[in-house]
Amino acid sequence: ADLPLVLGIETSCDETGVGLVRGCELLSDEVASSVDQHARFGGVVPEVASRAHLEAMTPTLHRALDKAGAELSDVDALAVTAGPGLAGALLVGVSAAKAYSMALGKPLYGVNHLVGHVAVDQLEHGPLPKPAIALLVSGGHTSLLLVRDLATGVQQLGDTVDDAAGEAYDKVARLLGLPYPGGPPVDTAAREGSPRAIRFPRGKWGDGTYDFSFSGLKTAVARWVEDSARDGRDLPVADIAAGFQEAVVDVLTRKAVDACLEYGVEHLVISGGVAANSRLRTLAQERCAEAGVVLRVPRPRLCTDNGAMIAALGAEVVAADLPPSSLKLATDTSLP
Ligand code: KG4
Ligand code: ZN
Repeated sequence: ADLPLVLGIETSCDETGVGLVRGCELLSDEVASSVDQHARFGGVVPEVASRAHLEAMTPTLHRALDKAGAELSDVDALAVTAGPGLAGALLVGVSAAKAYSMALGKPLYGVNHLVGHVAVDQLEHGPLPKPAIALLVSGGHTSLLLVRDLATGVQQLGDTVDDAAGEAYDKVARLLGLPYPGGPPVDTAAREGSPRAIRFPRGKWGDGTYDFSFSGLKTAVARWVEDSARDGRDLPVADIAAGFQEAVVDVLTRKAVDACLEYGVEHLVISGGVAANSRLRTLAQERCAEAGVVLRVPRPRLCTDNGAMIAALGAEVVAADLPPSSLKLATDTSLP
C-alpha cells in the first residue's frame, strides 16, 4: 500500500509554508514569506507576521496541493508546527490545521519546529541513520541535538545562552551597514576579507558544554565600529565580516564534531537558514572528514523554514503510530 499523504503547515515565524510528502518523498513545498515587510525594522515584527500568515495560509495550501497534483480529500494526515515560535504566528497555522483536520476527518499531529529542521534532510538524502547529531542554526535557534529517533527520541545537548547564530549575523550586518537579513551580505563581504586579519572572541569555547554564546562577539564588532568612527578611519568591513564569520563557524563546527565523537555518532546534519553559509559548509566538511563523520546538509531551500519539513516530521510521527493531537492542541511558544 502507498505511504500516507501528509500535509505539513509551518507558521512559526515569517514564512507561511505548506508541504506535501509521502514518507521521504517530497511532493510539493510552497512558501510565502513576509520578510520584505520586516526588512525596514531590521527584524521580524510579530504582529505583521501574523497578519501575513492569515492572508497567505489558504492560497499557499492550495498551491501546494496543485503542485503535488493532489486534492484536499487525498490528504491522509496533517502535521502542524505547535512550537517553538511567535505566539500569534503559530496560532494561525494551528487554527488552520485544526479546521482542515475537522473538515476532512483526518488526524492532526502537532510537531516540534526544531525537529522538523532535522527531519527535512530525509527528503533530500533519504532515511537518517540513527543516532545522528544535528546542529540547528537559524535566526531563532542555535541548538545541538542528539537524535535517536525523529518521532520519539530527540535530546537537546546544547543551546545558545544569548543570541541565535543567524540573529548575530543580522545584528552584525546592521552594525556594518549591510541589509537585512544579514547572513547573505556578511557571507559575501567575508569573501573579500581575511579571516585572520582580526581575531574575534570565541564564546564558550572549550567550556566543556555544548552551549553557544554570540553576544560577546557582537559587542566586539560594535567596539570596532565605534573605534573606527571615533578615529576617523575607514571601517574594514570585509575583514570584520570575515573575522566575525570565522569566529561563529569555528565554534559551531568544533562543538558539533566534538558531540559526534563523544557520543560515537557517525552522521551530522546541519540545518536552518545559517546552514546556507558558505564558510560553515566548507569548514564543517573539512572537520567532519578529519573526524570520520558523514556530513548531511540539505539544500538551502529546505534549510530555511518551510512546510515540507513539518510534513516530513509528520510522516515519521504517523509511521511511529503515535496518537494524534486533539482539537485542543495548544501552541507552545517555548517548546523545548
Ligand atoms: O531558518 P531561517 O530562514 O528562519 C528562522 O527560523 O530564523 O533562518 C534565517 C536566518 C537569518 O538570520 C539569516 O541572516 C540567516 O539565516 N542566513 C545566513 C545565510 N543565509 C541566511 N546566515 C549566514 N550565512 C548565510 N549565507
Ligand atoms: Zn526555523
